Amino acid sequence: MRIQALEELLGAARTAYYGRARDQKSISLLEQVFDALETPAPQSQFESGRLPVCRYLSDISLSLDSDDSDLRQLMRAFMAIEPALQWRRRQGDCTGASEGFSENHANAMLVGPEGLELREDVWLGVSLVGPNVRYPDHRHLPEETYLVMSPGDFRQGRNEWVHVANGETFYNPKSIVHAMRSSDRPLLVFWALKE
Ligand SMILES: [Fe+2]
Repeated sequence: MRIQALEELLGAARTAYYGRARDQKSISLLEQVFDALETPAPQSQFESGRLPVCRYLSDISLSLDSDDSDLRQLMRAFMAIEPALQWRRRQGDCTGASEGFSENHANAMLVGPEGLELREDVWLGVSLVGPNVRYPDHRHLPEETYLVMSPGDFRQGRNEWVHVANGETFYNPKSIVHAMRSSDRPLLVFWALKE
C-alpha cells in the first residue's frame, strides 16, 4: 500500500532518529511517531513541485561526513523521494523572519495533512533554509523533535540561540514559540510530530 521509496525513507528516518536522540522526551515522542507509522495511510494526489531554494539540497547531501552512514542513508532516501514532494512556502505570520526569507526557504511534508501520505496523527517533514536566513517565530500544539542534517541555530521563546550540529536532535515542547536560523551554509532539518 505504501510506495517503496517512502517505506525506505521512513525506515532510514527511524534508524537515524533512534540512533541520535538522547533526551527522554524525544525518545518517547519518536516511539509514538514510528509506532503509528507502522500502519500506512492513503497516498495524496498533490502535484509535486520544487522551489528555488531546493538548489541547495545536493550541496547538503555532499557535505555529510562519510562516518555518518545513518545520515547519509537518510539523505539518499530523501533525495530519491524528493522529486515527488510538494515544496511549499510557509503561510501566515512571519514575525522575526529575516529579509529574503520568502524566497530562501521551503517546507515539505512526507507524511501528514499535506504529506505524500495523508494522515492527521503523525507529521514528518523537512524545512530547508538558504544561507544567512532566520526562520520566523512560530508555534504549534504538538510537541516536536528535529533531526538536524546541516548545522544551524535554534531558539525557544526569548532564550539564547543554541547551535545544533548535524546529526543532533532538538526537542520543542507543546505550543512553545521557536525559531531557527542558518549560518553561511544552508540548513536542512527533519521534524517529527504526533497529534
Ligand atoms: Fe516547529
